Amino acid sequence: MTTEPTTSSTTGTVREGSGAMFDGIAERYDLVNRVISLGIDQSWRKKTVKALELTSGARVLDLATGTGDLAIMVARTHPEVSVIGVDPSAKMLEVGKKKVADAALADRLSLELGDAQALRFESQSFAGVCIAFGIRNVPDRLQGLREMARVTKPGGRVAILELSEPRGGVLGPLARFHVHSVVPTVGALLSGKREYHYLQKSIAAFPPPAEFEAMMVEAGLRIVSSTALTFGVCQLYVGEPVR
Ligand SMILES: C[S@@+](CC[C@H](N)C(=O)[O-])C[C@H]1O[C@@H](n2cnc3c(N)ncnc32)[C@H](O)[C@@H]1O
Repeated sequence: MTTEPTTSSTTGTVREGSGAMFDGIAERYDLVNRVISLGIDQSWRKKTVKALELTSGARVLDLATGTGDLAIMVARTHPEVSVIGVDPSAKMLEVGKKKVADAALADRLSLELGDAQALRFESQSFAGVCIAFGIRNVPDRLQGLREMARVTKPGGRVAILELSEPRGGVLGPLARFHVHSVVPTVGALLSGKREYHYLQKSIAAFPPPAEFEAMMVEAGLRIVSSTALTFGVCQLYVGEPVR
């Protein structure tokens, strides 16, 4: 991923993909997400929740939780599961906390500041760890993956949802046009910010699935499955810690 600084209209000079960059787009983030993904993002999150194969009483960690969509979906899908969402953007979390309160989930879903590269949690303390559209933004991805493997219980699941550069197929060119042209333009129009150009650049810079799977293995995860979603616009990686 690119780590050069970019100039944000709201926060001064910030690293692309950082919590500070997301602070600048937090208020419009959910709206832009739904529009640029044509509403498909929630169906991808649903598959991620399913892949965790949670059982009653499980404790789940959602990294790069942002405004909490995935954490909320986990809690709604599994009424006997508790969830902690972690993100370095205070403003994204502020939006998320309001959604958690509105959904009456605050008794078993908490959101807190934190960095996926250095988690405060004990080893082997979660039955499921997930991250949606977040690993792309973690500067040291291998370290982030190592932390995910460390805090997951033996037999637990790590589910990683990430956008990728659409490749091949009949609808490949259409999907590429959407990611390269529609996403940055519509994102900029709806949010009034240039940050959505970063989205397209960072997707293009993300390693292809085979390379990312090798990184998961290097971090101590066994690949359970790796599935291309919606013409390869998105990829769901599922792993288990190797003990
Ligand atoms: C595209 S948003 C994804 C939010 C949410 N998971 C979702 O499904 O909508 C990416 C998030 O990654 C967060 N992020 C950036 N650097 C991070 C890091 N080092 N550790 C954890 N999260 C990070 C950002 O603050 C931002 O909220």
